[in-house]
Formats: sequence, structure tokens, C-alpha cells
Amino acid sequence: MCGIVGYVGRQRAASILLEGLKRLEYRGYDSAGLAVLQPGGLALVKSVGRVAALSKLAAARKLTGTTGICHTRWATHGGVTEANAHPHLSSDGRIVLVHNGVIENYIAIKKFLLTKGYTFTSETDTEVLCNLIAYHYAKETAPAAAQAAGVNPQPSESSRFLTSVRKTLLHVEGTYGIAVLCTECPGEMVAARKGSPLILGVGDQENLIASDVSALVSRTQSVVYLKDGELVHLTAGGFALSTLDLADVSPVIDKVTWDVNDAEMGAHAHFMEKEIFEQPTALENAMRGRFSADGSSANFGGLNLTPADFRTIDRFVFTSCGTGWHACLVAEHLIERFARIPVEVDYASEFRYRNAPLDRDALFFVISQSGETIDTLAALREAKRKGYKCMAICNVVGSTIAREADGGIYQHAGPEIGVASTKAFTSQLLISAMFALYVARMRDLSFAEGIEYVNGLKAVPDLARRVLEQAPHIKEIASRYSKYNDFLFLGRLSLFPIALEGALKLKEISYIHAEGYPAAEMKHGPIALISPECPSVFFVPKGELFNKVISSMQEIKARKGLIIAIAPDCVELPEGLADDVITIPDCHEAALPVLATIPVQLLSYYIACARGCDVDKPRNLAKSVTVE
Ligand code: M6R
Repeated sequence: MCGIVGYVGRQRAASILLEGLKRLEYRGYDSAGLAVLQPGGLALVKSVGRVAALSKLAAARKLTGTTGICHTRWATHGGVTEANAHPHLSSDGRIVLVHNGVIENYIAIKKFLLTKGYTFTSETDTEVLCNLIAYHYAKETAPAAAQAAGVNPQPSESSRFLTSVRKTLLHVEGTYGIAVLCTECPGEMVAARKGSPLILGVGDQENLIASDVSALVSRTQSVVYLKDGELVHLTAGGFALSTLDLADVSPVIDKVTWDVNDAEMGAHAHFMEKEIFEQPTALENAMRGRFSADGSSANFGGLNLTPADFRTIDRFVFTSCGTGWHACLVAEHLIERFARIPVEVDYASEFRYRNAPLDRDALFFVISQSGETIDTLAALREAKRKGYKCMAICNVVGSTIAREADGGIYQHAGPEIGVASTKAFTSQLLISAMFALYVARMRDLSFAEGIEYVNGLKAVPDLARRVLEQAPHIKEIASRYSKYNDFLFLGRLSLFPIALEGALKLKEISYIHAEGYPAAEMKHGPIALISPECPSVFFVPKGELFNKVISSMQEIKARKGLIIAIAPDCVELPEGLADDVITIPDCHEAALPVLATIPVQLLSYYIACARGCDVDKPRNLAKSVTVE
């Protein structure tokens, strides 16, 4: 939540910052701001609304400075106003700062600073942080005063700046990713992180800082992932990394494996559309090199556990948030079904406070596209604190969760920019299916069943392409259903989580009220909602539950409810039962959740477009939820 970018170099900072900020807009988009250290002093531009509005204002100014910071906001403390937008400037005009995170003890600090004469123009916790740095900066002996007092060696403005940030951060409680400028130190920036992501981009005669690599890749592919408690001092010519308690840190420079084109929309109308259509490739990437040589099982190099370790595990605990939590439910179904090992699923936000009794030999998994979701990270830390090994299924390489987990599986789905998760979700489902196979083959799944399972998964990308070919048909259905304000999504077994996901997709991007339910639960309450004004989306299975689901559909029809059925092409639905049908190709049971998801992604997408919604940036949301 909130995106920050900082630049120190030889080029004009403003355009570089704004280009980076545009790529971070998915992290928050209620207001934005930019500060550039200019030859004639500091230039500060802020605007309510999107980065585009800020760019317009910035274009009207002559911003020639080569050091600057910027921010796109998702409001936590204080409403959406220009005064609350970042960057914040200290009341003495020396320190300017952008912040992602929450300072919990800001009220006590603010009271203290008011007694010292600092004043405030916003309602934010960030302005408190900014003024506290200014307070420490003022307290540090200025070089001229030090010379007069005979202090030797005299501190430079630069070390004064660094020390003031360090002293401030030692006093604050909460989370932060910050980039700070001091008007008396042109050509310098200090950045630090605790609990909010921050990445250093190492360029040629320029260095950058950002909340996400997507803001850096157009300038450099060499990055350093800052760890919690680290602070970096940047100039155009170099950077120095240290901890808050002054220990030097040797930087590990990683190479980003994707480039700026991967984060472009191309010919698509929205990132969400692009990412839906990228799913066949993302699914291929999730499987690449991960099947055993005999073709009957899966391999995961990054789990750091031997088959013998796996034999001792008597339960898996999966935690996540939002869409990832739905992937956990599918993992639960597939692991219990094929490997017969019990799985528990918990919301990460609940798990961290629930203090649930846990089996001795449980293995933890967290699922997170971004690898930065604060609740999921806290759940991982809680599991580790209790001495459990914790694995992560993550898309973003080098993310905090990926780094803190004991092992894990990277999704390799490529950057996902649309706030509504699509390709990351289906890739999580496929990885869960592969993991279920891996543990099932260590238990009772036979070689022949393993071969059949692997072949079933290998077919998924092509089958997904076939589902995507139905996009025009689904768009036409969406155009007729876009007027309704309530929807039910109903499925059973592994398709119940897909019903939840369908409902979440629809509500988050089109603001339509939607609920996901196990189809048979419908008559225990939700059926009261049914009327010609509340359509139901049914996931129809083949096999033993087919007739049961058909009965549930009959119950809806008897109450004049409209039905969209998503059904395998191998089943025949009773004539006239569904008002609209979207077919998915017949597939292996473990692949079914992936293929059933694609129609509801498309349906939600086209309904949201038909209603004129801002699909990639739905109201009130941010892609990466890094505050509690
Ligand atoms: O990055 P994560 O997977 O940890 O994010 C978890 C949720 O915030 C995320 O899935 C959210 O629910 C999406 N908006 C769903 O489309």
C-alpha cells in the first residue's frame, strides 16, 4: 500500500520519478506527490487523484533538479486531501520525506514535537516522522557550530542527515519504507525499511529506491532488496548500506529477470485483461522443469526438505489472504483427496492472533502473490516463532515473504499489475495441484495414477487457451447481466473455492454484491435472495455430484432465478435449465479449478467494463496490503 520512488543521479529527476510512480499506482491511487531538490531550493508538487493529475501539475513547473522523491498514496491516517498527500515537509523546511507504512506511536511523538515548536499541516503519521528527523537534525551539531566548539572531526551535513534519520527510526514503532531528502544535502538521499518493502536500484551514475522493482526496471536491472532494519545512503556515484545500529552491510546485488515490457499493457485495454490472457504462459512457467524424470510426480527444488522430511509431516497448515486464501482451500481439497494428509486452512490475519493449538509435526505454507502482504508475513513469522518450518508460494522474487520462508516455490507468473489477481491465482492453483501430486506419490498414489495426473496437468495451458477462445461469448453474456446488483456463485468440493473467487472478483472490480457458497448450502439461507433480479453462477461438476448440483439448479429455477452454468463439455445439462452456458474442456480432476476460474474472471472483467468501472484500480483497494 502506497508506492514510493526516489532518484539521485545526473538526469532530471521529475520525469524518471513520475514514470516509476505510474508503475506503482496499483499500490494506492488516491493522491500523489513529488519533491525535487532544485538549484534554487525545494520544489514540492502534490495532487489529489491519480499520478496523471500530478504529472500535469509537474509539467507546468520547471523541475530541473536531479534528486527527488515521490509517492502514490492509499490513505491510512487522514482523508484524501492535498495536505495529507506525500511528500511531507518538516515545519523548518529542511527535511522532506515519503513513507509507506504506519507509525504507531505518532501521537506521543507529535505531542513532544509540539512542545519543541514544530507545527503540523496534515493529519498524517508521516508528517510526525518528518518533523522528528528535522528535530534530530537540528540537534546534531552543525559543522560551523562544531568548529566553533572545537569538536573534532567536525560532522559533515551529510553525516548529520544520516544520523538524524537513524536516531528517529530508533524511536518509532510501526512499519515504514521511507525515502528522505534534506535541503542542506543536495545530491543525497537516505532510505530505510521496516515492515514495508524497499528496493535499491543500482544504476550507472544514478541510484534509485522504490517499493517495487517495476518502478526501477526501466533504469536498471541490478537491485538490492533491503532487509528490515537496514538503511541506505545514496548519491549518484554510490550507496552505503548499514543497519540502524551502525553496522555496515555488504550489499547483495540481484539481477531482475524480466524487463520493462513485461509490465506494459500492450494492446490490451487493461492489465487485468492482459493478465487473464497471459494465463496459458503463466501456467507453462509454473510447471517448467518441475516434473520428475519418470513423468509420474513433481519436483520442487526450493522446498529445502527431503522426501524423508515429508514422511514425518502429519498435517499441513495453509494461510493467506484474499484470493490466495481461496488457493489455500483448493490446496486443502487436492492434498486431502490425493495424498490423504489433513490440511488446515486459516486466514493469515486470524492465524496470527488466534494462538491455535497445532500438531507437532505440521508444515506451514503461506501463499502470497506479492510476498509483502503484512498479515501473511506476520502469520509466517508467528509459525516460525513457534518453531515450525514455513514454506511460501510467492510470485514476486526477492519479496519479504519469499526471503523469510524456510523454503518455497516461485510461481514465475510474471508481474501482475491489475489489482484483481488473475494469473497469479491460477498459477497458485496449478502449483497446489503439483504439490498435492508430489506428496501423494510419497503416499498411496500409484505410478500409473501419477502419470495420468502429470499428463492432466501438462494439458492445462492448451485447455486454458480453449477456454479463453470463449471470451466473445462470455462478453456477450456479461453485457446482458451487467445490470444486476446481486449475484450468487455456487460450487462444490474443489469448485467451492472457485465460487468464492468468482464472487470476490465480481465485487472487487464491479462493486456488485456477490456471495460464494457451497451449492448445497444454498437452501440453508442464501436461497432467500433468489429472485429474477439475483442471478446465480453455477459450477457444474461431472461425476457423482452432477445430479446433486442439477437439483440445486432446479431449486433456483423454480424460484425464477437466472442461471449461468459453467460446465464441462462432456456433460449434458437438462434442456432449458440454465439460461446461459459456458463450457470448459473435460480435464483431470486436479486441473478443474484452474479451468473453471477463467470463465468467472472473464465474466467479472466484462461486467465491470460494461458498468464503466476502473478495472485495474478499483475504489478503496490496493494490490499489496502492507498495513494491518
Ligand atoms: O499479494 P497477496 O497474494 O498476498 O495478496 C493477497 C490479497 O490481498 C489479494 O489476493 C487480494 O484479495 C486481491 N485483490 C484479489 O484479487
